Amino acid sequence: MRGVVELPGDKSISHRYGIIAAVAEGHTRIVNYSTAADCRSTLRCLERLGVEIKIGRERDVEITGTGLSGLKGPRRALDAENSGSTMRMLAGVLAGQTFTSTLTGDSSLRRRPMRRVIEPLRAMGAEITSRDGDVAPLEIRGGNLRAIDYSLPVPSAQVKSAILLAGLYADGVTTVREAVRTRDHTELALREFGARVETAKGALRIHSRPKLTAQELVVPGDLSAAVFLIGAALVLPKSELVLHNVGLNPTRAKVLDFLISIGAEIRVTSVESHHGELVGDISVKHASLASGEISGAQVAEMIDELPMLAALGPFTEKGITICDARELRVKESDRIATLAAGLRRMGARVEEFPDGMRVEGRAAGKLRGEKVDPQGDHRIAMALAVAGLGAQGETVIVDAQCAAVSFPEFFSTLDKLRGEG
Ligand code: S3P
Repeated sequence: MRGVVELPGDKSISHRYGIIAAVAEGHTRIVNYSTAADCRSTLRCLERLGVEIKIGRERDVEITGTGLSGLKGPRRALDAENSGSTMRMLAGVLAGQTFTSTLTGDSSLRRRPMRRVIEPLRAMGAEITSRDGDVAPLEIRGGNLRAIDYSLPVPSAQVKSAILLAGLYADGVTTVREAVRTRDHTELALREFGARVETAKGALRIHSRPKLTAQELVVPGDLSAAVFLIGAALVLPKSELVLHNVGLNPTRAKVLDFLISIGAEIRVTSVESHHGELVGDISVKHASLASGEISGAQVAEMIDELPMLAALGPFTEKGITICDARELRVKESDRIATLAAGLRRMGARVEEFPDGMRVEGRAAGKLRGEKVDPQGDHRIAMALAVAGLGAQGETVIVDAQCAAVSFPEFFSTLDKLRGEG
C-alpha cells in the first residue's frame, strides 16, 4: 500500500454541521461534507422537514436554515436508514418542535436501543411513543421543553448531542453530565454557530434560544475511515501511506496513540485548528506490532475503531484484548459476535466475552481467505477486508458495498493505493 490519500469529510462532524445549519439563520456552506450514506440520510430527513439543501460539486453542501422555529411538520416518516446518529440527534431537534413527526430506519436501526434518548427527552417534556418501549419507529410530539440536569447512564455522544440540541428549545439552562468523555463535535459546532455552551468538569451547560447564524465550514477528513487504510498499511509489509487533512480532535484521535503504543510507525504533522476542530496529516509505515489491551475510558474514545483493532489482532505478537465494550453489541450489528465469527472463519483464534473479545496474535501467516459475512455492518466489512489483505488466498466479503454507509470510496481507494507486490 503506497501513496497519498485525501479522505472524505468526517461523518460525525457532517451530521452535526448539517443539522445545526438547518435550524440556524441564513445560508451555510459546508465544504467536504461526508460522502457517507448515513450523512445523505440526514440531509434527506432535513429536506422532509422543509429545509432547502443544494448538493454541489466537490462535496459541497449549501443549506438554507429555517431558524430555530421554522421547520415544517413532515408529511411522511423521516427515514434515518442505517444511521443511529441521524435518528438520535434529530430526535433532540424534533423534541423542540410543536408538530408531530415519526422517525424510522432500516431493520438494523429498528433493532437498536432508543430508550437512552427517549428517557431524557421525555423528562424535558416531549411526548414520545415507540415500538416495544425501546426501539424505532419513534413518534415525537414536542414543544414547551423544560431544561434538565441529566447524567448519561451510558457514555454516548449521540445521546449527549440529542439533549444539547433539545436544550436549544428548553426554558432555561440544560446540563448534561458525562462520567466518561465522548466525542465533543456537537459542543464545538454549536459554539461555532453562536450557541452558548459551557464546559466544566464533565458537565456541559447549554443556554436556550440562542441566535444561530449561518457559517462557512470545512469538514476535516474522517479519521474513523482513515483508520481502515492505516490498518491495511500495518498489515501489508513495505507499506507507506500519507493521509492529508484528517480530523484529529482529541476525543477521537486516541486510536493513533494506541497504535503507536503497540509499535506502529505513525507520524502526525501540519496540525491546525479549523472551527475548533484539529486537522493534520498522518503518515504511516508498516511495522511489526506487539500486543495491546483496550478497556475503561479508552473504549468510548475508540468505539468505532475497535473492529479494525480487533482485526489487527492476528498480526500482532501477542494479540489484542478488548474489555468494557458491551456497547459494541448494540451497534449496526452485534459487532463482537459478527467479528468473532468472521475472524474465526479465517482461522484466527478468538475468545468472546459479554463485553469484548480477545484475538490471539502470531497468526499472520496462518490466516486464510474465506467467504465472510459482515451482516450488513460497514465497519465490520472494512475490518474483515483488513484481515483479508493479510490472509493467504482470496477473501470474499458478502454484501461488501455496505462499506458505503460510512466510506463509499474504501475499496476503490485500496485499489488505487496498491503498491508493487
Ligand atoms: C457517534 C457516536 C458513537 C459512534 C457513532 C457516531 C457520533 O455512537 O459509535 O458511529 O457521531 O456521535 P454512541 O455515541 O452511541 O456511542
